[in-house]
Amino acid sequence: MSFLSDPPLSPVRTDHQIRLALAPEAGPLDLPALFGNDRPVELEIGTGKGRFVVLAATAYPEVNFLGVEYAKRYLEQAVERAGKRGLTNVRLAHAEAAAFLRERLADGSLDAVHLYFPDPWPKKRHHKRRFVQPANLDQLVRVMKPGALFRAVTDHPGYAAWIADRLARHGGFADAGEEQVLWNLPGMGDHTALGVTNFEIKYRREGRPFHRFAWVRR
Ligand SMILES: C[S@@+](CC[C@H](N)C(=O)[O-])C[C@H]1O[C@@H](n2cnc3c(N)ncnc32)[C@H](O)[C@@H]1O
Repeated sequence: MSFLSDPPLSPVRTDHQIRLALAPEAGPLDLPALFGNDRPVELEIGTGKGRFVVLAATAYPEVNFLGVEYAKRYLEQAVERAGKRGLTNVRLAHAEAAAFLRERLADGSLDAVHLYFPDPWPKKRHHKRRFVQPANLDQLVRVMKPGALFRAVTDHPGYAAWIADRLARHGGFADAGEEQVLWNLPGMGDHTALGVTNFEIKYRREGRPFHRFAWVRR
């Protein structure tokens, strides 16, 4: 088994069905080859410990889920979780998200993109580190199919305003409407009530309000 990883991860479970294959060479991934089929592919940026990709991949076995995460210890937990479930429709990349979009994804290759509780970088001098930036939105437009959904959730009011402003001004996205902002995970019981990401669970317990967004790639 190999990993979507540069540098390599330390060994984790190898006795599961998940295949996290990555051609070590540079250039766009061949997603049908990576997943072994040409089903729709959805990307989660900042997968963390993998709760969302695991729940979503379980609920939607006919959809492929690709996660990108740069913190090795979180990625390893996500690999472990997906492996325990025996999921065959998950691949996880150990990479910086902006570089991964730019260098490893082909034009029009994604059916949806998920960005849940991205680091808000609250200090003004750090705002340039926020994921939602015109250059990254340009890349999203390039890699998403027309009509693909981009969902984002944040608890941070300043980042929420920033996201709303940058998306509205970008021009590559149209507001998808209220009914698209909530995740519907059929058959997932109370997971939707509990939260579909680890940070959602944590912040719900703290009673923080959330700002949820959904846009369609024009
Ligand atoms: C606040 S956590 C949210 C994790 C998960 N989405 C959730 O809701 O539980 C943000 C995650 O994004 C990852 N991350 C932040 N910036 C990243 C980047 N540029 N590339 C890849 N991962 C990134 C962090 O390591 C962290 O796991």
